[in-house]
Amino acid sequence: MSSPIEVLIFGAGAVGAFYGSRLAQAPNVKVSCVCRSNYKAVASNGFSVSSPQYGDYKWKPTRVFANPKEAEASGVKWEYIVVSTKALPDVSDDSKQLEGLVHDKTAVVLIQNGLGVEDAYAKRFPSASILSAVTVVSAAQEQHGEIKHNRWTRINIGPYLPDSASLNSSDAEQRNNKFAQLLQQGGVKDAEAYTHAKLQLVRWHKLAINASMNPSSVLSNGSTNAEMAKDDELSRHLAGVMAEILTTAPKIIGHDFPPEFASADKLLASTRKNTSGSRPSMWLDWEAGKKMELEVILGNPIRIAREKGYEMPRLQTLYALLKMAQTNRDKQQAKAKL
Ligand SMILES: NC(=O)c1ccc[n+]([C@@H]2O[C@H](COP(=O)([O-])OP(=O)(O)OC[C@H]3O[C@@H](n4cnc5c(N)ncnc54)[C@H](OP(=O)(O)O)[C@@H]3O)[C@@H](O)[C@H]2O)c1
Ligand SMILES: *[C@@H]1O[C@H](CO)[C@@H](O)[C@H](O)[C@H]1NC(C)=O
Ligand SMILES: *[C@@H]1O[C@H](CO)[C@@H](O)[C@H](O)[C@H]1NC(C)=O
Ligand SMILES: *[C@@H]1O[C@H](CO)[C@@H](O)[C@H](O)[C@H]1NC(C)=O
Ligand SMILES: *[C@@H]1O[C@H](CO)[C@@H](O)[C@H](O)[C@H]1NC(C)=O
Repeated sequence: MSSPIEVLIFGAGAVGAFYGSRLAQAPNVKVSCVCRSNYKAVASNGFSVSSPQYGDYKWKPTRVFANPKEAEASGVKWEYIVVSTKALPDVSDDSKQLEGLVHDKTAVVLIQNGLGVEDAYAKRFPSASILSAVTVVSAAQEQHGEIKHNRWTRINIGPYLPDSASLNSSDAEQRNNKFAQLLQQGGVKDAEAYTHAKLQLVRWHKLAINASMNPSSVLSNGSTNAEMAKDDELSRHLAGVMAEILTTAPKIIGHDFPPEFASADKLLASTRKNTSGSRPSMWLDWEAGKKMELEVILGNPIRIAREKGYEMPRLQTLYALLKMAQTNRDKQQAKAKL
């Protein structure tokens, strides 16, 4: 048998451990993890995954590391490094953590929400392939090492080739196709390889939901998506934010949304029907006193559009207000700790 495909998961929380546990089922794939707060639990017992689709199972990573230095010291040549930390560029530049782990045959796979998450990795590792992935999975780590997969598995992945004219893109494309195939072999039937442009359109389209619902939930003190979409005034606001995003994205990417991508009206209609009562992750982070993914959901899209001469004023308003709310909250929290 040929030498195994070595995969490293950096940020083995809900999303990283879930997809890691699926990749580990593919033939000839070895999956290792860099853990942090869950290190002790995972190093001794591995992960327990519960899933309506795959059942309940245990997954022991091939190797469990307490930090990236340990992963480097192992001497393994990683073919794929999956980054599934929360994307908080205002808090930390996680690309720095991968120094010493990435070589020119490594593909760095970013499974993170939001926009502009690839840039720091592409700049730091110019000769590596950067693959950009978006998922709709719903999963949570309820206790250290205990992963609850709620529903959905779909993941789209595309090579990140912002100036494809100057790049030989075929390596990145090959690695991209292979990674989607490994996920499929691990039982993720709706893993799909996309082109750079289509994947970026998926990111923007997902943003139409996240950048409208999430900040509005926080600013309206914890409304559910359905409550907002059913309220007359708030649903006009949501439609306005979605329209800004869905009309700006094609101008930036240079491609229209494919017809199968839902319109703002459709997105709102399906939100009204969604009585799951769950609240967006930004609200959960806010309520827990944690940093919200503000920059990748709001700040980066605004800046990327502005660079090309487009403003998205409704989005800008949400961003400015929420960022200040977070700053004030953090100040109060710091004072309370004194
Ligand atoms: N959960 C979902 O259903 C879902 C769905 C779609 C997209 N996403 C996106 O997927 C990404 C990951 O989300 P998640 O829900 O999986 O978050 P999560 O459960 O908080 O997992 C993130 C993991 O990364 C670890 N981590 C962060 N920085 C690290 C570092 N420097 N070294 C080692 N480990 C580090 C965290 O460790 P600590 O515990 O020590 O902080 C945590 O285990 C986000 O961009 C999110 O928006 C999530
Ligand atoms: C691009 O790279 C591939 C594989 O590494 C190689 O086969 C191909 O000839 C290269 N193409 C160009 C135009 O350099
Ligand atoms: C937000 O709602 C909580 C209850 O969920 C309440 O305690 C709090 O006072 C509210 N905050 C504001 C600003 O209305
Ligand atoms: C229902 O709402 C939850 C919470 O916002 C969300 O995660 C989920 O994607 C929604 N379901 C559908 C079918 O849209
Ligand atoms: C994005 O939106 C989906 C669907 O409403 C939700 O499940 C997820 O928690 C949101 N992600 C973030 C980072 O807010």
